[in-house]
Amino acid sequence: MNVILIGGGGREHVIAKYVAKNPKVENFYALPGNGGIAQFAECVKISAEDIDGIINFAKNNAIDFAIVAPDDPLALGAVDRLEAIGVKCFGPSQAAAKIESSKIFAKELMTKYGIPTAKYKIFSRIDDALSYVATSDCPIVIKADGLAKGKGVTVAENFKQAREAVMSCMKEKTFGKSGERILIEEYLRGPEVTVLAFTDGKTIVPMISSMDHKRAYDGNKGPNTGGMGVVAPNFYYSQEISDECMKKIFVPTINALNSEGIKFKGCLYFGLMLTAEGPKVIEYNCRFGDPEAEAVLPLLEGDLFEIMLAVQEERLEEINFKFKNAASCCVVLASGGYPGACLTGYEIDFGGAEKIPGVEIFHAGTKREGNKIFTSGGRVLAVTAVGDDAKSAREKAYEAVEKIKFENMRYRTDIGQAM
Ligand code: AMP
Ligand code: GLY
Repeated sequence: MNVILIGGGGREHVIAKYVAKNPKVENFYALPGNGGIAQFAECVKISAEDIDGIINFAKNNAIDFAIVAPDDPLALGAVDRLEAIGVKCFGPSQAAAKIESSKIFAKELMTKYGIPTAKYKIFSRIDDALSYVATSDCPIVIKADGLAKGKGVTVAENFKQAREAVMSCMKEKTFGKSGERILIEEYLRGPEVTVLAFTDGKTIVPMISSMDHKRAYDGNKGPNTGGMGVVAPNFYYSQEISDECMKKIFVPTINALNSEGIKFKGCLYFGLMLTAEGPKVIEYNCRFGDPEAEAVLPLLEGDLFEIMLAVQEERLEEINFKFKNAASCCVVLASGGYPGACLTGYEIDFGGAEKIPGVEIFHAGTKREGNKIFTSGGRVLAVTAVGDDAKSAREKAYEAVEKIKFENMRYRTDIGQAM
């Protein structure tokens, strides 16, 4: 088969690695790919948001199957456009991707179908939002409705921060159209859990749980980022909680989408908070998390591409796979300044880290020039180690991290520590 993978981050690197193993995959291209993906797929300079470019490439190269991994092309309808020219896809349609691309859509779906989530109000007028904030207790959570490169959520500790977040969305229009409507949400307390699940719209199969570390600095301080590291499984996610989530959240979400006439095929991401009142949904994403994928997929015992084919063909029920009885820890190495502006273009010295058994280094923001690899983004590498338990995975991941060097390198030192 001729296969394309859309995207060029750490998530796409781990997907490329496991998909490339399947003998059915003959010609494998990544659009645009990156310095690490180049080892498994031919990287083509077409951006993940250039849907016309993707369609032309698929037509000219007789592409049979596409894996659309990032949120932006999914929200732009890449899957609908590819399917219209006969390319089968792993990833949801534009209508199904709305579960991520409109937080208001997701909230209204949960409310209508009784899926537990934080209480909220929707605002489309700045005055109304500001007067609501003025009478609310803090912390309070302000969210832009649409996609905002992971930066549209503010957990405001005080009135001043809440007001600034409202102004940033609705007056300064920092997120453009995405911030025209906002949600103001009750602040939830408890450990956070990510559960990724394969679904073909009929069957839903959760993967091993994980915990992302979203704040930039140690001790969960600093601004939110796309994710600074992950440990899997999540310490707090017991079998009992998992059973409860299946019954009250996962299956009801698929049923709710189906009742609205929407079939979701791909990976559905559940961002959960384990509150004193039980698990609640913080957010849905319509794709694998990044860096969750880099921690979760190395624990998969099964053929990722066969699972993707089964999802597309709506026969997920027939596929058997499980997860290793092991743990993984993924530490993100970022450029200084991330999540703000950062300087890139520095050569990376891997120092032999990739040779440590059980360690895999996924490239998030790199570019290859000849034999050398240079930094090219905020998040640069996702260093994953697999071990018998979280402690050994964590120790191995940091052993690898300490060997890697590039100018301005920054990372959290507390990924996977019990919190
Ligand atoms: P999101 O961009 O929706 O993933 O939100 C980013 C982060 O903000 C989440 O991972 C949580 O840590 C935090 N967050 C979002 N909504 C809430 C909430 N209602 N209560 C507490 N924290 C939240
Ligand atoms: N790591 C969070 C996300 O992928 O949205």
